[in-house]
Formats: sequence, structure tokens, C-alpha cells
Amino acid sequence: MLLVRYGHSLTRFGRLSAQRHGGSSAVASCAARLWSSNSSNQDQRWHHHTHGNSWKYGLAGLIAGTGAVLAGGLHYHKAERADTSRVRTIEKTSDLPIFSQEEVSSHRCLEDGVWVTYKGGVYDITEFVSIHPGGDKILLAAGGDLEPFWALYAVHKQEHVLEMLSEYKVGELSAQDQKKQQSVQSSDPYSSDPTRHPVLRVNSLKPFNAEPPPELLADNYITPSAIFFKRNHLPVPQVDPASYQLHVEGLTGGVLTLSLEELKTKFPKHTITATLQCAGNRRSEMNKIKQVKGLNWGIAAISNATWGGARLRDVLLAAGYGPDVAQWARHVQFEGLDKDVTGTTYGASIPLNKAISEEGDVLLAYEMNGKDLPADHGYPVRVVVPGTVGARNVKWLGKIRVSGEESSSHWQQNDYKGFSPATDWDTVDFKSAPAIQELPIQSAITTPADGTAVCRSSEEVTVKGYAWSGGGREVVRVDVSLDGGKTWQVATLKSSEDTDTPEPSPLPGRAWAWKLWEVTAPLPPDSQELEIVCKAVDNSYNMQPDTVGPIWNLRGVLSNAWHRVKVKIAEDVIEE
Ligand code: MTE
Repeated sequence: MLLVRYGHSLTRFGRLSAQRHGGSSAVASCAARLWSSNSSNQDQRWHHHTHGNSWKYGLAGLIAGTGAVLAGGLHYHKAERADTSRVRTIEKTSDLPIFSQEEVSSHRCLEDGVWVTYKGGVYDITEFVSIHPGGDKILLAAGGDLEPFWALYAVHKQEHVLEMLSEYKVGELSAQDQKKQQSVQSSDPYSSDPTRHPVLRVNSLKPFNAEPPPELLADNYITPSAIFFKRNHLPVPQVDPASYQLHVEGLTGGVLTLSLEELKTKFPKHTITATLQCAGNRRSEMNKIKQVKGLNWGIAAISNATWGGARLRDVLLAAGYGPDVAQWARHVQFEGLDKDVTGTTYGASIPLNKAISEEGDVLLAYEMNGKDLPADHGYPVRVVVPGTVGARNVKWLGKIRVSGEESSSHWQQNDYKGFSPATDWDTVDFKSAPAIQELPIQSAITTPADGTAVCRSSEEVTVKGYAWSGGGREVVRVDVSLDGGKTWQVATLKSSEDTDTPEPSPLPGRAWAWKLWEVTAPLPPDSQELEIVCKAVDNSYNMQPDTVGPIWNLRGVLSNAWHRVKVKIAEDVIEE
């Protein structure tokens, strides 16, 4: 591998490509610069040491495409950006040789070189694959076109990712083959995604990720399914309920296969009300401190629903679970039916004791708010793991596996983990941190919205919001301040749709649903602006941290600092 430093930036060119193709003028001249430059071992070591992690994650994201790997790429890019004026990129140029698809296709392995095409360009990524430990996924694109991969991960079509790719350009695809490619280019894998409610605030269209407007969130104790936040990593799979099968593996009884009908009729139906929250809820507040990698969720990647279905416990018992299993098994893994282009499915796992415990209330849900699950929420069956981070609530459930190991999925191993504010993309070791399961105490203000105004003439302000804690811990108090935290008052909590007929208190350790809260307070006569703050307390007396800085982490997860909004007091009457 050859590495050159131009000033503070790095440029890499494949030695093999320059030699193998007789050196088109562009490649040859680059190679000449390489040889004449100081591409010493020392330089290579410097590169590996300083950027080893980050640029490798970057290109892996480029092709295999997942949040964390892409994020690494973003970091690499940013780090190198300090001196972008000197980063050389090869633009489309007629000086580069023309290759046929057949020639490209003959480069599918390390021995022959690994080539891919993208928008008519031919790229030799051998160098990258040879040093990247997860190169097997990348090899699936070898000899072919990157476009179908990127159709799945639209987020990668960003300037900096293309810039990285451009460093590997070795030629152009023949016009004839480009035409052929266009005609076979895969159709949009998201074309069969369901239509969504227009009020949703979309964070990413493909895959679809959206949250309701915060001001609507606390209007309903049970969030209407249409505006329940939606977090998809992949296209929504089309599942035929008549041929749907759920496989339960890993137990002595062999594989238990259940149809939807069997799941509905062979096991008693249980109903729970449970809040789901994405690990990235309120990530945007971390972004204000320092940029993190991930979707820029506001405060509404959280919603509350009533779920109906069979208990996971009952299904595991029917599949042969017995006391002997607890001797060796530790986890229950779930696999979704949603796949990426390599056929890899979404997956996650939860601890066995949560899955099997009667008090764990883990459901194989086929109903949401009294109706069949909507397509976006996992039709026909999803796991609902109350009290546990959204990521483990696997949708479009295809397989359950009792195991001694956690799920090997990317989302269990290399994402949805928390780190110190000191950890960056060069130092992060995903193996060093446990997968997030139970979430910490959380609360946020849904009205009034930040930056709005209240009328002085109304003399008082009503503040509303939600509060929830993971692991079945019940929210016992929410404190609200109008003056940035100097003085406080206690909010009224609401745990049902109708305050006149409150729900019975949840059983200890099984408080799965959020509480909505409300405070009405007089406007302070001398203030022109309010800094409204909320913080919640659960029955273990866990409280939220007061500021974001000390909990900042590179993936922007577990963001639960006191929520603050600033609101002006308008002296004049504001027309509605
Ligand atoms: N299950 C599958 N099969 N595929 C997914 O992309 N996303 C997970 C989880 N289950 C996901 C999945 C994440 S990260 C979250 S936060 C929740 O689903 C979101 O559930 P919702 O879309 O019903 O709100």
C-alpha cells in the first residue's frame, strides 16, 4: 500500500492499478508523484496509527453501509478536512482507460484485484479490502455496481463519501455497458414502503425514520399508531400473513415453527401498555455540544402504545424451555425479516431472564392499539420488550433463538452502546461496552416549544411533557422550573387517557408506560423570558443529569439531560 502526505492531508493511489493497466497518463503521473515522494514506512505507520480505525470504518460504511461504520467515515473525513484544499481527487476524465463490464467482473477477489463500478466510473478497491477485517461484505459488491447497495443506504450518497471513493478511480466503464447497467439497475427497494402520515417530521426518507411534532405527543396518553415514531434501518418487508412463519430455535424440542394463526390461537393473548424509546431520542441536543453521528432526533423518538400478543415466555415454554436451559443459555436472539442487499437481516438480543420471566412481560405482539400491527411497526409480528431500548424490539420477526451468546448483529455488537465523552472514532472499541438494554430516566417538555412566546396578558403558562424510565421503574415525580433551575414546582402526573378514571398503579417493577405531566404556573412579573426546565425522578430515585456535556457520546445515544426550552413573554396579545 502506498501512502503520500501532501501537507497535512493524505492521498492514496493503488500501485497495482498503475502497473497493471499500463499507466494511463493520470494514473501514471500520480504514481510518479508517489514514487518520488517520501512514502516511507514511517509514513505508513503514522497513517495506521492515527487513522487506522477511522478511514477503515469509512469505506466499510461506504459499501456495507451501517450507521456506525458510516459515522466513522464521517469522522475520518472531518479530521482530514482541516486541509481539504490539498486533498487530490480524481475527477471523471477521458484520460482514464475504458473498461468493459467483463473486465470489471474479472476482478472479484484479492488475487485478481477487487473492482466496482459507480455511475460509469471504475474503482479498484483492492487496497482497502486487503486491510479491512470485515472485507467479506464488501466482496459481495466486487466486480459489480455499487448503485444497488447505495439504493439501500441513500445516506451514503454524500459528497465526502464520493470523495473517498474517487481516490480509487482507475477508469471508465464502456458506454455500452453503462447503458446496460442503467437498464438493469435495481428498482427502488423502498418503493413498497407504506404511505405515512404527513404530519410526521421526517429525519430520513430511505430508510424511513420520523417522529411526531412534539406538541402533538402529549395530547394523547396512547399515541395514535399513525404518528407513533418510526425507526427503520432497512426497507419495510412485505410479509404475507397466510404464509408467515415464526421459527423458534435453540431448545431441546428442535425447531418450533408457528404460523400467525397458531401464534394467535395456541397462546393466551396478553395486553400491555408500553412506551418505546429510541436510543437516539434527543440526540439533537448532543449535536449542539459537539457533532455526533446519527439521525438528528428531536424529543419525540418516543411514543406509547397498547400492544397485544402472545407472551414470549409461553412460546419458549412450548418450544421446550426447561430449567436445564438456564444452565447454559444467557440470551434470546431475534431476527427480523427485513434484509439488506447482502441478505443480512436486522437482529438483536435480550437477556434470557428478561425473556423468560413472567414479570418481564415480553410480548410477541400482533396488535398495536387494538388493531393489526401497521406495516411500519412490524406487521405481522414484532417483539415488544417493555422497559428496554427500542432497538431490541425487533419488528417483522422471523426467528427467535435461545443462545449462550448475544446476537452477532451489527446493531447489537457495533451500535447502540454508550461511551465516555473522551471516546472518539479513532479510539472507540465497541467490544468494550455492553449493549444498551434498559434505558435511563427520561423526561422532556412538549409544550410550549422552544423559541415560542406566551402572552403576558394570560398571566400564567401551562407546561406539558412526558416522563419515563427503563426497566419497569416507575416515574414518581417531575420537577419543573421556569427560571432555569433556580426554583422548582412539582408537576401533576397523568397515567391514563382520562384523568377522572385513573389506571391502577403499575405492579412494582412493571411500570412500562410513560407518564404525561402538566404544570400551570403564574408568569413571573419581572421576566421577559422564561427558561423552562424539567427533570424526572423514578422509584429508584434515579434522576436526570443537569447538563448534556458530561454524557455526550460519539453516537449521541442515552441523551437524557434536564430538558430546557426558552420562551419569550410577549407584552402584546398574540393572535392565534
Ligand atoms: N426491527 C427491525 N426488524 N428492523 C429495524 O430497523 N429498528 C429498531 C426496532 N426494531 C428495527 C427493528 C429500532 S432502532 C427501534 S428504535 C424500534 O424498532 C422502533 O420501533 P417503531 O418503528 O415501531 O417505533
